[in-house]
Amino acid sequence: MDGPSGSGKSSASRGVARALGLRYLDTGAMYRAVTWWVLDQGIDLADAETIAARATEPVLEMSTDPENSGVTIDGIDVNGPIREATVTGAVSAVAAVPEVRAHLVALQRELIAGTPEGMVVEGRDIGTVVAPHAPVKIYLTASAEARARRRNAELSGSTVEAQVADMARRDTLDSTRKADPLTMAADAVEVDTTELGLDEVIAEILRLVKE
Ligand code: CDP
Repeated sequence: MDGPSGSGKSSASRGVARALGLRYLDTGAMYRAVTWWVLDQGIDLADAETIAARATEPVLEMSTDPENSGVTIDGIDVNGPIREATVTGAVSAVAAVPEVRAHLVALQRELIAGTPEGMVVEGRDIGTVVAPHAPVKIYLTASAEARARRRNAELSGSTVEAQVADMARRDTLDSTRKADPLTMAADAVEVDTTELGLDEVIAEILRLVKE
């Protein structure tokens, strides 16, 4: 399941995983955790060379239980901090470093291979890069305003206008970076969630899975 921020990927992915008894992997949390670590180490965000050289240093552990998903890095529970504005503002720069992507994509493939019961994986490049042979590929979209409104409801202390601007900035960075840019896989099905509630999105995806 791929798509831009605020398209509803996390809630939909978790809901589909629950409904089908599958595991769930939030790959955005992996990029966010590495970004948290880069900031914690005091590495300059503009220093892509150092980020690349140290990309495999931190140890990431993912929980793929849809009821209790999460990430630790070097044993530290970072599930709260990775959602903070400092990490959100920095993550696209770290995620654009090819060595970071290569390392995380390899970890993601390992997790998928080690999960024979199947997994709903959400991100930006799952259908195109991480799992090109996935049996079902969904690309979630929504209007910029709907995405900003949803994100705004999740965060306090930010205006819808500020959200629209931040998401547009991140979408541009994510879609124009050289390594694995955000793009819809040719064989993905696009689901526009602008007018849909979460239950309707999940029902539509379950219908596509059964097809
Ligand atoms: O919270 P939101 O849905 O906006 O994003 P996220 O899924 O937590 O991902 C955060 C950032 O990680 C994205 O803006 C991308 O820069 C990066 N990302 C990526 O490059 N590839 C993925 N498979 C997942 C996330």
